[in-house]
Amino acid sequence: MDSIDAFRDLLMSLADVYAQEDREGARVLVDVYRAAAQDTAPTPSPPYQPMNAAILASTETAKTAAAKAARAAHSVLPWARTGKLDEQITKEVSDVFSVAILVGPGALIHNETVMGGLFVQRSGALYPAHAHAAEETYAMIAGTAEWQKDFGEWEEHKAGELIHHPTNIPHATRTRSMPIMAAWRWSGDIRPSTYRMCEAPESQSI
Ligand SMILES: [Fe+2]
Repeated sequence: MDSIDAFRDLLMSLADVYAQEDREGARVLVDVYRAAAQDTAPTPSPPYQPMNAAILASTETAKTAAAKAARAAHSVLPWARTGKLDEQITKEVSDVFSVAILVGPGALIHNETVMGGLFVQRSGALYPAHAHAAEETYAMIAGTAEWQKDFGEWEEHKAGELIHHPTNIPHATRTRSMPIMAAWRWSGDIRPSTYRMCEAPESQSI
């Protein structure tokens, strides 16, 4: 399979992933992915060197269709430090992950109302609590990680599971011995300028 076919398979797989979610923002993204799968022709994208090994390792034994397709389409995915959030996220925080934006304003698949893409977090790492105005749903597609909302209990989620973050709720992710790959989507107020890191309340720690 060539990388363009793999990329189109990836878009259809991501549509199937979000077709499980009964929310308007998910329905819009599903339609965007399915339409784009018909005619989007990505061009080769240089590897994001700081995370390339983790990106490849995250899908090495992947079982989901989306992760297999992401691996096959690796050479055309726009993996980057943060995508749209380079100003809001310090390098210290972004050193643990990489983002590939597929849908959004000015993205490969241009859309003004929703965003969507892929996320990889390296093994043994914490992505500390942060929040943003956009409503967000992650979909684990490879590996297992722990997710925390509003400084509550850490909950384990594995490939195939969805994690929803309502607008402005603090959320964090930590990995263990393996990197993870997840799909993500944003809807509602998708302005990157609303993104911020969050401090734990005095009585709690993460
Ligand atoms: Fe988020």
